[in-house]
Amino acid sequence: MNPLPGPGLYVHFPWCVKKCPYCDFNSHPLDGDLDENGYVEALTGDFAANAGDLRFATVFLGGGTPSLFSAAAIHALLDRVRPSLAEDAEVTMEANPGAVEHGAFGAYRQAGVNRLSIGAQSFSTAMLARLGRIHGPDETERAVAEARAGGFDNINLDVMYGLPEQRPEDAVADLERAVALEPDHLSWYQLTIEPKTAFARHPPPTPDEGAIAAMEDAGRALLAGAGYRRYEISAYARPGAECRHNLVYWTFGDYLGIGAGAAGKRRRGSETVRTSKPRQPRLYLKSPGAVSEAPVPNGELPGEFMMNALRLVAGVDRRAFTERCGLPWSAVAPAWARTTALGLTEPNRIRATALGLQHLDRLVQFFL
Ligand SMILES: C[S@@+](CC[C@H](N)C(=O)[O-])C[C@H]1O[C@@H](n2cnc3c(N)ncnc32)[C@H](O)[C@@H]1O
Ligand code: SF4
Repeated sequence: MNPLPGPGLYVHFPWCVKKCPYCDFNSHPLDGDLDENGYVEALTGDFAANAGDLRFATVFLGGGTPSLFSAAAIHALLDRVRPSLAEDAEVTMEANPGAVEHGAFGAYRQAGVNRLSIGAQSFSTAMLARLGRIHGPDETERAVAEARAGGFDNINLDVMYGLPEQRPEDAVADLERAVALEPDHLSWYQLTIEPKTAFARHPPPTPDEGAIAAMEDAGRALLAGAGYRRYEISAYARPGAECRHNLVYWTFGDYLGIGAGAAGKRRRGSETVRTSKPRQPRLYLKSPGAVSEAPVPNGELPGEFMMNALRLVAGVDRRAFTERCGLPWSAVAPAWARTTALGLTEPNRIRATALGLQHLDRLVQFFL
């Protein structure tokens, strides 16, 4: 078995230009000026207090909208983090095509970001407006071109489907526009209506199950034909361009979370500990190093592990379960035997069958 990936470093940037109606991430509309130096100072204090002697294989600058921060601010942050990074660390930054300065991509690349994740969502002008996005398709296309020109050779596009009143042919048209930009990686998410969002308060008419299935069949065929391998429920990559940071999550690895509302998880001795930070930027900024910890009871580990690992199309070796959870395989053997008998999992590898992947939520229930 190859060594399992990790640890990862997640850095949260909690502001956006405005809140999208479908989004339940910890993101706050920016009112007034962004005190980027103040926030970067807080992040570096947080990192110094909590990183210990970890050596990070991956970094993910997520949000919110990290691209609201100047390349100089990102550079300052990465300079402080760099001594704790593995030599070939993957460093991803999320960018909103409507919230990134022209000409800035080269400077982000110089700052040490080597993977860019661009929130395209759709390429229909009308749909983007309905999703409350602050950009049109042309800005996404320009962002990709500028990122390439700025030296990025590892680019992801986020695209969503199952959007309000979307027809299967619309979802396919979105993917065609996305693929034409030749991203290295594509995250293709079905829109979910999250509690407490504007869409939950005023639900838009979303496509029915049949239409969703038609989108998935056509979309997956299109992506496969264009050379993108589906390696996780929602993630498609060209060979070698799988997101290493997300693989840390999906193999239930350790990650440190810094920034407002950032979550973390790590093995400590014989226990697994989850960490969290205050969600409100104001509270976070008062004591950035402070962290709440909660041990994960042993009984919850199998469910948490399977919820992640079974998302991987190729699955993981059984030994990963013991390595990540500190539990013997016998802890899940009876449940595994049941799911295998039902045709949902493979007998000798932690891997869902095609049927299991289709009914992943039900499958995971067996381990909860
Ligand atoms: C933190 S955002 C990405 C960066 C940036 N904030 C942006 O929106 O351009 C992460 C991604 O999650 C996806 N996402 C957010 N809310 C979603 C929802 N309710 N259902 C499905 N996908 C969602 C979107 O594709 C989004 O790009
Ligand atoms: S820009 Fe991204 S993080 Fe911000 S509200 Fe929209 S989807 Fe959420």
